[in-house]
This record gives sequence, structure tokens and C-alpha cells, in this order.
Amino acid sequence: EKGGHDYFMLKEIEEQPEALSNTLRGHFADGGVVLDEQRISEQDLRDINKVFVVACGTAYHSGLLAKYAIEHWCRIPVEVELASEFRYRDPVLGRDTLVVAISQSGETADTLEAVRHARTQHARVLAISNTNGSQIPRESDAVLYTHAGPEIGVAATKTFLAQIAANYLVGLALAQARGTKYTDELEHEFAELAAMPDAVRSVLETVPQVRELATRMCDAKAVLFLGRHVGYPVALEGALKLKELAYMHAEGFAAGELKHGPIALIEDGLPVVVQMPSLKGHSQLHAKLLSNIREIQARGARTIVIAEEGDEAVRPFADELIEIPAVPTLLQPLVSTVPLQVLAAEIARHRGYDVDKPRNLAKSVTVE
Ligand code: F6R
Repeated sequence: EKGGHDYFMLKEIEEQPEALSNTLRGHFADGGVVLDEQRISEQDLRDINKVFVVACGTAYHSGLLAKYAIEHWCRIPVEVELASEFRYRDPVLGRDTLVVAISQSGETADTLEAVRHARTQHARVLAISNTNGSQIPRESDAVLYTHAGPEIGVAATKTFLAQIAANYLVGLALAQARGTKYTDELEHEFAELAAMPDAVRSVLETVPQVRELATRMCDAKAVLFLGRHVGYPVALEGALKLKELAYMHAEGFAAGELKHGPIALIEDGLPVVVQMPSLKGHSQLHAKLLSNIREIQARGARTIVIAEEGDEAVRPFADELIEIPAVPTLLQPLVSTVPLQVLAAEIARHRGYDVDKPRNLAKSVTVE
């Protein structure tokens, strides 16, 4: 049942191309996004002038990525907030506010309560969930289901990639409703998304390399993750995976923050995983990250670099180089997260832990 794998999580990591294509299938037709349920009028959707994304854990990290896409495509301000913080600070909500609630299980108590609070304030709620008929979709005005299939491993993997795709679909739906993108542009963005299952399939070829790398990292005291722009949520997700599975101290930072504190943590031999931005899409950021890597390497860090194929400039600074295919900037997290998932799972396995059932964690958190 584990498809020849030692544990479900590895099987689910390898199922990510299908999870993505199943999530995209049927959600785009005649030049537009098709939601699964819509109890809100096109006019109301058009009038949305503020978006809040609420979620917990890995779903929250996918939400951080939604902000880049929605602001870029729709020109609406987006705030991303941990569901457990959202309703306790009296957020400014109204009829023209859209709250996007992301929850794999559809049952997470904090996210559900955030949805309920939003509704009492007359905000519109759109749910993204992997579970048909679960509570959060039931209490929402619109629903887009990810079709990642059931996830047995407690740590979210394929549902994370599916959530990212779903968030981008919601971004396109809003752009369409608001008229900030023409049909041909929407079709172009969707076609780029539709090419991602193949890109993920190709990044899965790095699995043996990452498994081998994991054997040399399992005794590290801590691991840091650095990224910028869309690489920043990926760094947070890489760190979360390592904490929850391998019980190691791990932290993700925005690389630009290094000098404002975290660089003091760098010591001889400390592994630092760095996400390089896309060369074409973000050449300025690329140069900045190069200088960050140079700084940490000079202070003794062991650099593990995730970079696009053909990124020659980074080679001298990479003690380990994991190559990913070049894809459009907003879509890079769909490929760059994959090696981090494998790294965390394999380090956990080498440390003798149950990868599918990490201690103290539950698949669905139904208490606040
Ligand atoms: C981490 C993980 C959790 C969940 C979080 C939200 O691997 O699985 O952080 O992402 O508990 O769960 P859902 O998406 O079901 O609301």
C-alpha cells in the first residue's frame, strides 16, 4: 500500500505531479476559473477590495504565496494571517472583504473559528480544502477543492503543492472578476500552471541525491533555511518540515534579514539551506542572495543551495547543489519545496523516527 516505499510520506511526495494535475483539472474552462461551489454573485466578487488569507501551519505557508500572486494579478491588498491570531485582533472586515480560508482537513478549529468570525462581520468567505463536505467549506460562500487525494502522512506534502495551485486559481478567478487580466492572459497563466506537473516530475529525479545528503545531515545541531520573495515561505516550510519530522531545531529566514540578527547564529559547519531566486525573473534578487551566501560561507556555514539548472554563478558558493528546473517565478515554490520535503523525511528516518506519525502531532487539529 506504500507503493514500494518505506513510508507513506515518500509515496505522497512522489504523487505530487498527479496531485497538481488533479487539482487543476476541471477548474479552468472557456478562459476562466471554475470554482466547485459559488454562493456569491459575480458582482460581489468584482466588488472585493481587500483579501485576508487565514490558515495554520503548512496551509499558512501556502497562503503566504497567495499574497504574491493575488496582489500581482488583481491589484488588491492581501493580508495573510495565522487563523489563531486573526479573530483576536478585531480585523477590519466588511462585505467587500474576501477571507480565503485554507485547510486541507477542512476541520481545523482555529481556521473554522476565523471563518465564523469573518461571517459575523459580513465578509465573504472562500474555502480551499482537500476534504469534500468538511465543515469549513460547508460554512463558506465559495469553495475550491484541491484534489490531492487522501494524505496518510501527518506532515502535509502533496496537499501543500495542491493548495499553492488552488491559491493561484483563486487569484486568477479574482483577476477575471475584476477585469485586471484579459482572457488570453488568464489562459497563459493557466497554461504555465498546467506545465507544472511535468516540472515536479523532473525535480523528483533529485530524490536519490537528497536522500544521500540527508545521511550526512542527521547529526546537525540545527539547520537554517534562507529565501527571498516566494523563496521565503518555502524556507519557512522547509524549517517546519524538519522540526515536525526530525525534531531538530530549524528556522526559516528572509535572507534580507540576515544582517539584522540571524547571521549571529552562523558558526562553523552549520548547514544553511538557501533557495536561489529564478535567474530570469529575479536577477536583482539573485545577486543579493549570492552576496548573502558569500557572507555565511565566509563565516563557516555549510551551504546547501537549491538553484535553477544553468545557474553557474552560484556554483562556487554551494557546498551542495540541488538543481531544479527553471520555471516562472511565482511557480518556483512548486518545485523548490520538493527537495526540502525529502530532506526532512529522510533525516527523520535516519534518526530512527516514524516519518508518517511524528510525536505529539495529529493530522487534524480540532481543538484551539
Ligand atoms: C504540517 C501540517 C500542519 C497543517 C495544519 C493545518 O505538515 O500538516 O501544519 O498544515 O495543521 O491543517 P489543515 O490544512 O488541515 O487546516
